[in-house]
Amino acid sequence: EKGGYDYFMLKEIDEQPQAVAETLLGRLSETGQIVLDEVRLTDQDLRDVDKIFIIACGTAYHSGMVAKYAIEHWTRIPCEVELASEFRYRDPVLDRSTLVIAISQSGETMDTLMALRHAKEQKARVLAICNTNGSTIPRESDAVLYTHGGPEIAVASTKAFLTQLAACYLVGLHLAQVRGVMYADEVGAVVDQLQQAPAQLTEVLAAMGPVRQLARDLKDASTVLFIGRHVGYPVALEGALKLKELAYMHAEGFAAGELKHGSIALIDDGTPVVCIVPSPVGRGMLHDKMVSNIQEVRARGARTIVIAEAGDEAVAAYADHLIYVPRTPTLLAPLMTTVPLQVLACGIADARGNDVDQPRNLAKSVTVE
Ligand code: F6R
Repeated sequence: EKGGYDYFMLKEIDEQPQAVAETLLGRLSETGQIVLDEVRLTDQDLRDVDKIFIIACGTAYHSGMVAKYAIEHWTRIPCEVELASEFRYRDPVLDRSTLVIAISQSGETMDTLMALRHAKEQKARVLAICNTNGSTIPRESDAVLYTHGGPEIAVASTKAFLTQLAACYLVGLHLAQVRGVMYADEVGAVVDQLQQAPAQLTEVLAAMGPVRQLARDLKDASTVLFIGRHVGYPVALEGALKLKELAYMHAEGFAAGELKHGSIALIDDGTPVVCIVPSPVGRGMLHDKMVSNIQEVRARGARTIVIAEAGDEAVAAYADHLIYVPRTPTLLAPLMTTVPLQVLACGIADARGNDVDQPRNLAKSVTVE
């Protein structure tokens, strides 16, 4: 069943180009229009939306964080992302013009379900992004966009995350199109880029040998830090989560700009710091800020593991290990930059002799609050 792989997780990491392609399939028309036919919300409903809340847990929450950057940029609708377990127990301001997007691989996560019910009681419309047909969360939602990632068996989420990203991008572009805030050719340009993602992911996967080697090298580290900016920040959080859950190792993700406000004190001689670098193209400022953050951690002794875009030579001087991924527009970069972090966590866990597919203390679907 593992198809020759040692772990389901490795198989599922390798299935990502296909999973993303399936999630996009049939939803992008040749004219660059987005087709979301399972969305039972009228175009008028979508034009009336004046606020978006994304609710999710764990890895799905990280995909929601990425979605916020894309949705606000493309649609200009204010968008908040919140952990479902927090959303539920406060008093969020919602009404019938609020769109709540619930993201869940399993469709059965109790915290997300309860947050969804809380939103519905206040008349908000709920759109589910889910991987499991007919599960509870989509059944209770007004509309659903299924990610077609196929079953995910390993406890740690990999392909579900990438397909959630793809689905969120589709939702953002669709909203922008329906509301007339993006021209068809602008949407078309992003769609073209999205369509290249599966082939680019295949390239990323083919280049993972050095990451597996690095994983063996890092197996005895006492802590691993991850830093990123903009959409690289949720990627840093996701990299740290994978490492915690699989390798039982202390790991933490930070917004790179926040380091100097305290956390940089953690860095000691040889502390591994994984740095997610934004594209130097388009948002050069963001790139330059990140490069100075890498210099800062390195000056304090960090061993830097740099994930950057192919062709970015400016970072090479500050990287103890350099991993290139193909060029994408900044907002789509998490589709690429997450993959080396999955491979790294899986490799470290394996080197430590852990059960990669069934980490201790965890269940695939968390149906208790
Ligand atoms: C981490 C992981 C979890 C899930 C979280 C939400 O690898 O798998 O953090 O992402 O429990 O699960 P779903 O998406 O099923 O609601």
